Amino acid sequence: MVDNRIKIEFLSKSQNESFARVAVSAFIAQLDPTIEEITDIKTAVSEAVTNSIIHGYENAEDKIIEIEVYIEGKEVTIIISDNGVGIENVEIAREPLYTSRPDLERSGMGFTVMETFMDSLEVVSEKGRGTKVIMKKNFVVS
Ligand SMILES: Nc1ncnc2c1ncn2[C@@H]1O[C@H](COP(=O)(O)OP(=O)(O)O)[C@@H](O)[C@H]1O
Ligand SMILES: [Mg+2]
Repeated sequence: MVDNRIKIEFLSKSQNESFARVAVSAFIAQLDPTIEEITDIKTAVSEAVTNSIIHGYENAEDKIIEIEVYIEGKEVTIIISDNGVGIENVEIAREPLYTSRPDLERSGMGFTVMETFMDSLEVVSEKGRGTKVIMKKNFVVS
């Protein structure tokens, strides 16, 4: 059962990346997270939003990014969606060090970071239609 939920959308401007990070961490504050849990969530949200901006929308600043956050007991689900270019092969994109933009000095570690800091990561994407990143994290019961 969902205990609480938010949905926010914002323009694909790089200054909104820090807004997204802070908004999600403010919402999950009700779970009484540790500093480490907050840092993990912020890092994962940053990576996903940055990907939507630079890869999904190729830095166009007038597109929409949507974030939904669900709280169910001590489990948090974060869904970050764009309607951008999409990913042709998600399996390859998720490999550590893979980047389609070495020209931008990308490290290719974004998905690996999300996987490391969250308990699960699902990437649903279709070429030309957009990308949805679904991340879950279970919080320590305090
Ligand atoms: N939202 C997205 N829309 C389109 N392509 C994406 C998106 N997120 C990730 N990708 C693709 O997956 C690749 C790997 O992403 P990531 O691991 O974050 O590495 P990096 O961002 O450093 O390239 C990207 O280079 C890009 O090709
Ligand atoms: Mg990235």
